[in-house]
Amino acid sequence: MLSINPELCNKDSLCVDECPASIITMTEDTGLPEIKDEARDCCIHCGHCVAVCPRGALDHETVSLKNCPPIAKEKVIDSEQAVQFLRSRRSVRKFKNRPVAPDVIENLIQVAAYAPSGSNMQPVEWAVFSDRHQLRELSELTVDWMRHLVRESPENTPPYMPRLIKGWENGQDSVLRDAPVVIVAMADKSARIGQIDTTISLTYLDLVAPAFGLGTCWAGILQGAMLNWPAVKQAMGISEDYPFHYPLMVGYNKHRYYRLPERKPPVITWK
Ligand SMILES: Cc1cc2nc3c(=O)[nH]c(=O)nc-3n(C[C@H](O)[C@H](O)[C@H](O)COP(=O)(O)O)c2cc1C
Repeated sequence: MLSINPELCNKDSLCVDECPASIITMTEDTGLPEIKDEARDCCIHCGHCVAVCPRGALDHETVSLKNCPPIAKEKVIDSEQAVQFLRSRRSVRKFKNRPVAPDVIENLIQVAAYAPSGSNMQPVEWAVFSDRHQLRELSELTVDWMRHLVRESPENTPPYMPRLIKGWENGQDSVLRDAPVVIVAMADKSARIGQIDTTISLTYLDLVAPAFGLGTCWAGILQGAMLNWPAVKQAMGISEDYPFHYPLMVGYNKHRYYRLPERKPPVITWK
């Protein structure tokens, strides 16, 4: 599974120490790292052995060295930049009437594919919706679901729902906010922790989108309808074999923001 360049490897055992599955050993005769055949199945293909080698001496069968670029030191952001970056992410609900090119969407998804996943299973798949009529239909079906909720169990209905329904009836897209694109991260039923993996991947996409000039908003109302109103998933062409999913609205912001809004102080218990 590993190819070692004996001229570059200095036998520092960093790969042995780093491997999360503890399957890399130093070969007795050559002193070079290896994964024994009987341990192959335990590899989770995380590429840590490639990433931790300072000399680029180690190549992996499925995480190839040539696709693992060096980390550019000059691009590492400091803590103040990181904090502002995270605090300045906003939920965008007003979008320009401007489409988003498919290659831009693909760029976002490529980045999101680097999100961590349980056992590095990488189960997340993506569906992209950008047909204006279809998005309108999804909002309408979601409003149908909200009307049903308000009618059948008003006591369990969030207080904002009647206002969203009213907004729709007054001609506003109160569900998908006229976003030109909705991206759904999803995983099929074989994914052991599919909802968590899906959410982390979508968070990566959410966070990187502003760097591409885009704004996003998690589409929780549509998610509620996807889970509870079968016509919605049918209209999206997403099979019931995909029980894990979350949709995100994406588009070019109409407004910009000048301040970082306050949040509740975190509740921390030191145990
Ligand atoms: C899981 C999730 C679902 C959400 N669903 C919706 C939604 O359906 N519609 C909406 O307008 N905002 C939605 N939001 C946005 C939240 O209201 C927003 O994150 C919150 O008000 C904080 O604002 P900020 O994201 O700008 O910090 C959702 C956010 C999350 C994390």
